[in-house]
Amino acid sequence: MLISIGSDHAGFALRRMIVTHLQKKGFECIEHGAVSETEPYSYVKAGLAVASDIQSHRVERGIVICGTGIGISIACNKKQGIRCALCLNEFMARMAREHNDAQILALGARVIGTSLAVSIVDDYIDGSFEGGRHQERIDEISQQENPSSKK
Ligand code: RB5
Repeated sequence: MLISIGSDHAGFALRRMIVTHLQKKGFECIEHGAVSETEPYSYVKAGLAVASDIQSHRVERGIVICGTGIGISIACNKKQGIRCALCLNEFMARMAREHNDAQILALGARVIGTSLAVSIVDDYIDGSFEGGRHQERIDEISQQENPSSKK
């Protein structure tokens, strides 16, 4: 599986760690965003680059990281068809896949520790969408993106 991963400067160190972890597990990663922890980089730009990789079907999954995970998830969710879930624990990560079919996981590097972050990433990557009644909810969300939607 090809994974797109982007971060601002606040998420740089965690991004590098997660990339190393994912590569060890055999995943290929495309990186976007900050080139160091010290040089400021827009979380909006980094998030949108990952969202665009999902929209173009260049990758199957995305991971975005900023200080809190808030700004970068808000940015991703502005893009058509994108469901980006900010997760603070493994349960949220599993639900983000099983119930919400989130194509992008958002993490807050200043909120959670590195071992929890890796564990969240593993559960997110391993999880799969359950469909069924959850698909109906996803469709309800998608309808909000269509201005002619009457629902
Ligand atoms: C950068 O200082 C910080 O604002 C950013 O990483 C993020 O937390 C925004 O939501």
